[in-house]
Amino acid sequence: MQHFVSVDELDEDKVLALIKRAQYFKQGGKPGKDLSEVYCVNMFFEDSTRTHTSFEMAERKLGLNVLSFDPKQSSVNKGETLYDTLLTMDALGVDLAVIRHSENQYYQKLINLAPTQTLSIGIVNGGDGSGQHPSQCLLDMLTIYEQFGKFKGLKVAIVGDITNSRVAKSNMELLNKLGAKVFFSGPKYWYDPSFEKYGTYKTLDELVAEVDVLMLLRVQHERHAGDQNEANFSKERYHQEFGLTKERYERLKSDAIVMHPGPINRDVEFASELVEAPKSRFKAQMQNGVFMRMAMLEAVINERNLGGKINEDIN
Ligand code: CP
Repeated sequence: MQHFVSVDELDEDKVLALIKRAQYFKQGGKPGKDLSEVYCVNMFFEDSTRTHTSFEMAERKLGLNVLSFDPKQSSVNKGETLYDTLLTMDALGVDLAVIRHSENQYYQKLINLAPTQTLSIGIVNGGDGSGQHPSQCLLDMLTIYEQFGKFKGLKVAIVGDITNSRVAKSNMELLNKLGAKVFFSGPKYWYDPSFEKYGTYKTLDELVAEVDVLMLLRVQHERHAGDQNEANFSKERYHQEFGLTKERYERLKSDAIVMHPGPINRDVEFASELVEAPKSRFKAQMQNGVFMRMAMLEAVINERNLGGKINEDIN
């Protein structure tokens, strides 16, 4: 992959290869070549704690040279376009840019170039608007695989603010490719009939005792401008109707797991006392993010023939 911008290009073999490589890194494995002359920059135009820090941790563990970039102190504030900002990074010698941006598919203008454009930097998508979040999706797949060792036939419920969630979009698409049976739940006003090609809508109380994976989504208040449901929103009512309460947790199957991409609205999607409960994988997801992002970055680095001397002892 010259770029890693969505899950569209992934198939089962590629996902399993990334999972195996992430597990190799998780067990302390090292990259097969010297990456100290590979330069990368993390450009987060939307807020992030997990994805930003996790990519930086992954880059440092791989031995990459990491440059800092703060959009708030950049020439973006003088009107410089995203393309010209990346052209600058490219000219400076940066090989890879991890980007989070509020615009859906911002990456298209960086990878589908006009004949006169010369941008050659590798793009890794850290989340675009309500579009895609491939690294979150793949760390979720690693977390599910660690529990069940397979995807085929697993019942996975995606619950909550689905319309606004890039995590949900990537996960519904990839879980279908991997043979899982996807269900949806949550407020009907944050559900779109176009999701029906990926799964079936049921109430949370119908699903809770049936599913292997309960994937809770954050209520994305920052994307609800002009949404009447935001004005009428009640944390308590949401929690009772669509949240993981203690009573629902007790009804989960014995080997079921609960996931949440974070950040969590405690006592809204997830009862606060359950966030670190035995069936919760919230912390494991964040831990797995570092190793899956190492695998993703390495895949792009290898495709681009970046990096130095191959370490024969490791390969
Ligand atoms: N899951 C996720 O993308 O979290 P951050 O917004 O903190 O990166």
